[in-house]
Amino acid sequence: MTERLVTFIRRHRQAVEEELGDRLPLSSQPHALRLNEAIRYSLFPGGKRWRPLLTLLGAELAGARAGAAMPAACAMEYLHTSSIILDDLPAMDDAEVRRGRKTLHLVFGESVAMLAALALLNESYALLARNAREVGNDGAAARLVEKAAACIGANGMIGGQAVDLVLQGEGRGAAALASRNLKTTALMRLTMAAGAIACGAEEEEAVALADFGESLGMAYQICDDLLDELGASDVLGKPAKQDARHARATHVAELGIEGAQRLAADLVDDGVRTLRGRFGDRSEVDLLADASALILHAAAQRTVAAA
Ligand code: IPE
Ligand code: IPE
Ligand code: MG
Ligand code: MG
Ligand code: MG
Repeated sequence: MTERLVTFIRRHRQAVEEELGDRLPLSSQPHALRLNEAIRYSLFPGGKRWRPLLTLLGAELAGARAGAAMPAACAMEYLHTSSIILDDLPAMDDAEVRRGRKTLHLVFGESVAMLAALALLNESYALLARNAREVGNDGAAARLVEKAAACIGANGMIGGQAVDLVLQGEGRGAAALASRNLKTTALMRLTMAAGAIACGAEEEEAVALADFGESLGMAYQICDDLLDELGASDVLGKPAKQDARHARATHVAELGIEGAQRLAADLVDDGVRTLRGRFGDRSEVDLLADASALILHAAAQRTVAAA
């Protein structure tokens, strides 16, 4: 990891952890204590925490002061966590381990796990609107919530998860795989742009950030699929070879290991080049390039790159 990326992460990591803990959508109902325990279990200890850091970086690149996009950053981690709680359920990937320990539904039951995911998803919209208001930018709230709903919805993450369940085997073609990868690209689009929009970015800046998120998200899912195929469960903190078990259609199945690695690297190159073309030689672009390189490198080393 480059020195400048280490410095950026050090500057924000602790605050991200604290804010994630402070903003949890906990119930005050005396009989909902299991729900609260489940919400905490799903978030702490966390995973790599790339999404909140990327949201903060996107906002800073668009001119926001450091940390101004913290509510949006938390929203992205809550959204992501809600998605993996649902993803691990028996009806989806049927996974037993997540982030190095038993999946939420195995500890709390499927009903509580689903409700914890919904609580996190629900809160994320409120956090986005609140972020815009807190920085005196009320006007952006409606636009941001609308964009979030599009990224999460039937033509975004949720639609991508639906495609993932039905698409099987090789020979599916680029369009089908891109549709399947919406599960990750759509949320990465939002992750890159949400903090910037909350803090007053112009639409054109938001689109440039979201387009970078699209490239990074695609590369991110390809790296996840490479690790699923090549990695070891104890290193990944989740079961390996899940995609093969479910005969899922992936870029790895379609292009082979090297082809998938090359595609991920090309996507990152294109994404960073376009971002630099739009924002120039800003330090935040360097940091995004470093973070992307680290994610690719970790997948090549069959290990995980924590932020
Ligand atoms: C896993 O995401 C699910 C995908 C979208 C590929 P991460 O690899 O970012 O998971 P955590 O948050 O670090 O556990
Ligand atoms: C999950 O993709 C994507 C979302 C949850 C939106 P995967 O099913 O590949 O993620 P892992 O491998 O279980 O983390
Ligand atoms: Mg899945
Ligand atoms: Mg899964
Ligand atoms: Mg996977």
